[in-house]
Amino acid sequence: MAILKIARMGHPVLLQEAEPVADPTMPEMRRLIRDMVETMQDAGGIGLAAPQVHVPLRLFVWRAGPGASVLVNPELEPIGEETESAWEGCLSIPGLRGCVPRHRRIRWRGLDAEGQPVEGEAEGLVARVMQHETDHLDGVLYPMRMEDLSLLGFTEELARAAAVAEASVQDAAR
Ligand code: NI
Repeated sequence: MAILKIARMGHPVLLQEAEPVADPTMPEMRRLIRDMVETMQDAGGIGLAAPQVHVPLRLFVWRAGPGASVLVNPELEPIGEETESAWEGCLSIPGLRGCVPRHRRIRWRGLDAEGQPVEGEAEGLVARVMQHETDHLDGVLYPMRMEDLSLLGFTEELARAAAVAEASVQDAAR
């Protein structure tokens, strides 16, 4: 196992369209998936797509409970029209957060690590993570999805601003 180097925004690998995976059970693919899970966990992320570790292939891993899941050659489809905006970060854009609109519910399909077809539905945070990671496979980073760039900022500053707002609410309530 190994911790892989994570590409940061500005690196061209993050802007290219990734290629489908031919066979996830090949030894080098198994190694890649294991290393991606370890890299994600080491970095404290909740998802990681292969292009983020300089491998332009269509797969991503995400945190699922105490472990991790993998989806290979994912295809997503929104269920309904409903969208919601929430804060996202990205291991390729360290230190920043942005408020990004996403479909609230999606249907997903692809292959698991054994190359077997899998499919399901997701909503909320899991649907958001899947949309964020699938975007990476198409060369899209979350700021490119934002509608209001005033809601992009450094995590530290946003936390400080939130704490100040919280304190003033408490003062007002006193
Ligand atoms: Ni990301």
